[in-house]
Amino acid sequence: MASITIRNLDDETKQALRERAAQNGRSMEQEVRCLLDDAVSSGSGPEQKPRLNPAQDYTETVSISAVDEEFGNYPGAGKSVLLIISGGIAAYKSLDLIRRLRERGVEVRCVMTDAAAQFVTPMAVGAIAGGQVFSDLWDRASEQDIGHIRLSREADLVIVAPATADLMAKMAHGLADDLASAVLLANNRPVLIAPAMNPQMWANPATRRNAALLAADGISFVGPASGEMAESGEAGRGRMAEPLEIVAAVGKLLDDRPRPLAGIRAVVTSGPTHEPIDPVRYIANRSSGKQGHAIARTLAQYGADVTLVSGPVNLPDPDGVETIHVETAREMASAVEAQFPCDLAVMVAAVADWRSAATATEKMKKQDGKGPGSLELVENPDILKMVGHSADRPRLVVGFAAETQNLETNARAKLKRKNADWIIANDVSPEGGVMGGDRNQIAIIDAKTTLKLPDLSKTEVATQIVERIADWFAENTASA
Ligand code: CTP
Repeated sequence: MASITIRNLDDETKQALRERAAQNGRSMEQEVRCLLDDAVSSGSGPEQKPRLNPAQDYTETVSISAVDEEFGNYPGAGKSVLLIISGGIAAYKSLDLIRRLRERGVEVRCVMTDAAAQFVTPMAVGAIAGGQVFSDLWDRASEQDIGHIRLSREADLVIVAPATADLMAKMAHGLADDLASAVLLANNRPVLIAPAMNPQMWANPATRRNAALLAADGISFVGPASGEMAESGEAGRGRMAEPLEIVAAVGKLLDDRPRPLAGIRAVVTSGPTHEPIDPVRYIANRSSGKQGHAIARTLAQYGADVTLVSGPVNLPDPDGVETIHVETAREMASAVEAQFPCDLAVMVAAVADWRSAATATEKMKKQDGKGPGSLELVENPDILKMVGHSADRPRLVVGFAAETQNLETNARAKLKRKNADWIIANDVSPEGGVMGGDRNQIAIIDAKTTLKLPDLSKTEVATQIVERIADWFAENTASA
């Protein structure tokens, strides 16, 4: 699919677009696509689509990009940042930072100091950022084309990574003798800096004073972290924050979406559990954790305070979520219980129903001619049932029902048996490819109704569920 970057939208239009996208449960990028689709196909102005209902043509309209899918509606998607790279060995990490921001849908423009060019080449930075790199205050071509003032004004955020002690000193004292410092002085956008320097430089009273001045000026910091330095034998505080930490800090600063679940404490389970048989073998359910992780991440984006209890998965911990890693159903049950009291429980994990009655401490060996031994199984705790019947029951309890037949009947039976408020039923027959795949088709079932949604990506499914959770809390808090 072709990608278009739209620049210079005024703030009002951006805000209206953001609200419209949130209302329709779409990312900004999807919303723009829908608007364009509508305008092009009708030949007239776009119409507002109703919020997602099982409309037949919906899946046609919403095709979500790879960016959104893998990184689940990163709050900075569709925004632009100006990255200023100053001269330190950590400049090599800026290349990774650019890549990670861009794959999350952030447009990155770069300014480099002369010293930065000693560590990474402008050509490498430009190739990864996908555009021209600016470095010369006196470059007539780029000054005419863009101008050092517009460079920062067109960005939603200015990032300085790495920020050397020298550039921090210039910023603190308003010096502007090169492009980077001139851009920073002429800037009226929020600034995030990722300091990187030798620990003695960071500890030096001059740097301490400069850092305090910058913080008082409203500049945000990420890091520095402690650890070994590039110089041999040097260690201490001064390492630049890792690119993913910077990406998380950028996401927080760029996140201006409404937060309807602020103040709600949620616990989410995700992934499979592994029930050991011996040190090398285990019993497990098929589950990638993609759906549970997407729900935890989306709840956090809507402002909830989320604890994710995750079985073994190959996924990064979602941004903005406290993640507890467990192996077995019993560990998962006690991690969930430890979160009580809370307002919301969403139990997505594919918990293994049984475990081996005994766990061998040594690897069980084949015995010649005897054939396989038999395994005695015992039942695991049913976590959703325990949550649904708990004296401390969360106000809203949501479970999943993974079924291969009689979807609705089985899901309704689970709703009752486990005392859940909603069951999200999905067909996990192997031919559907839900287990491990990126798409899902669900029905949201409560005591009275069944709402079937079309086939959607797991991120979109998460948005649909979380939208309804937010509506439920809005209704049930207002009338309380
Ligand atoms: N669940 C749970 N603890 C278990 C088993 C299931 O918390 N030991 C939760 C799941 O996280 C899901 C719901 O219960 O939210 C239904 O899970 P599912 O595997 O579909 O149902 P089971 O109760 O295991 O019933 P069955 O396997 O007979 O379909």
